[in-house]
Amino acid sequence: MQRYKLSYDVKGEIYYSPDNAKELLQGKYYLGDVLEILRHLTPEYRGKVQLIYMDPPFLTGQEFKFRQPIGIKGWSGDREHSISHIAYTDKVDKDILLNMMTEVLTLAYELLTDEGCLYLHIDYRLSAYMRIILDDIFGIDNFLNEIIWHYRTGGRAKRHFSRKHDNILFYRKSKGYYFNIEAVGIPRGTDKKNNMKQGKDANGRVFWSIKSGGREYRYYEDDKVYPSDVWDDIPHLHQQNPERTGYDTQKPERLLERIVLSSSRPGDIVADLFAGSGTTLNVAQRLGRRWLGIDSSIFSLHTCRKRLLNNERSNKIGFFYNENIPALSIKQGNHNEITICDFEEDIELIDHWSIGYVKNGVYNSIKHSMRTSSNPNLDIEFQLNEKAIENFSADNLCIHTVDIYGKQRFYIAKTSP
Ligand SMILES: C[S@@+](CC[C@H](N)C(=O)[O-])C[C@H]1O[C@@H](n2cnc3c(N)ncnc32)[C@H](O)[C@@H]1O
Repeated sequence: MQRYKLSYDVKGEIYYSPDNAKELLQGKYYLGDVLEILRHLTPEYRGKVQLIYMDPPFLTGQEFKFRQPIGIKGWSGDREHSISHIAYTDKVDKDILLNMMTEVLTLAYELLTDEGCLYLHIDYRLSAYMRIILDDIFGIDNFLNEIIWHYRTGGRAKRHFSRKHDNILFYRKSKGYYFNIEAVGIPRGTDKKNNMKQGKDANGRVFWSIKSGGREYRYYEDDKVYPSDVWDDIPHLHQQNPERTGYDTQKPERLLERIVLSSSRPGDIVADLFAGSGTTLNVAQRLGRRWLGIDSSIFSLHTCRKRLLNNERSNKIGFFYNENIPALSIKQGNHNEITICDFEEDIELIDHWSIGYVKNGVYNSIKHSMRTSSNPNLDIEFQLNEKAIENFSADNLCIHTVDIYGKQRFYIAKTSP
């Protein structure tokens, strides 16, 4: 019989790339207040981050929710079997927010490499203040664009013109910044162009032409068109979009793809200091970038974890945490089967669980099961192969559970006296 300790206090998680052999680190997620974490991390990451995107709270005065389906019924689509949690509130006093953002942006500047760039996603409520603060920190010459992300969703105003855009302020760290517009070009396409004539050149390339001032202007169908600073081709995620995680304020992956592809290379570090549902982290992971994520909401951590584990490029995670609290007993059989004796959590209320081992203060998960719309069931037994079992010793086996209320628990092996 062994005693197991229970721990709630998670500090963050690390994710590895699919290349197990080299254990290449893919990314780190830190749970906690952005300033506390940044102050702690700046010495480690100073001058190493290529791209920082952030989408902080922007004085909306609202509460934002996370919708959590419950058990098999909830994940099978029955909306009555779900609960809404408050993921985070955006009801901060303006001066407090501006002070916090000034410090966050100052530390962000320090994290960037000389080739690095920052994208700050805000709206009309903060844009004027942020422009002044950023000009101060980055230098007015390093301002590159105010990108207008225009969308059509949301209500229609009658007392003023409807507000249908967000602002993304784009700054470089220095003149030697990296930017690859080629990576985000889209072929002009075969659509008919009004007032233009279609033709073919000697090499068989199709173009559309127009004459003006005695000159002919040709636009080839296979030439790329590059985005301007008005992005009106990326809609908000609609209700049924499979990308949706249930976390309010989630941004579309296409938006982040444009940013990540144009401003970083594979292997570079991409950071999102207000990670939310993990859009940036998931895109970075998929595009082979390393990443750093921070958020203070436990529902952000849960959403990011599931999203990243479903990403075909990640297969291994670890958590760093503080150990403490009561015990759970387990029995280990002769054939490597492990029975948990006094596990009192209701399995219908568990959304995700994993089994793993603790090494150097990090919990490494080996096998996990999570509910998703395509797989609402939770496995309650795992087959572990010999290689996985080799990682376990008497004192390091660990189980991690996440329930629908946002509580996560670790049950950690402790040999009883
Ligand atoms: C607008 S959301 C980010 C959404 C994200 N871009 C996405 O696509 O899902 C802002 C996030 O900032 C987090 N946040 C707010 N204040 C914070 C703080 N002081 N420290 C860390 N995170 C914070 C919230 O928990 C929330 O997840």
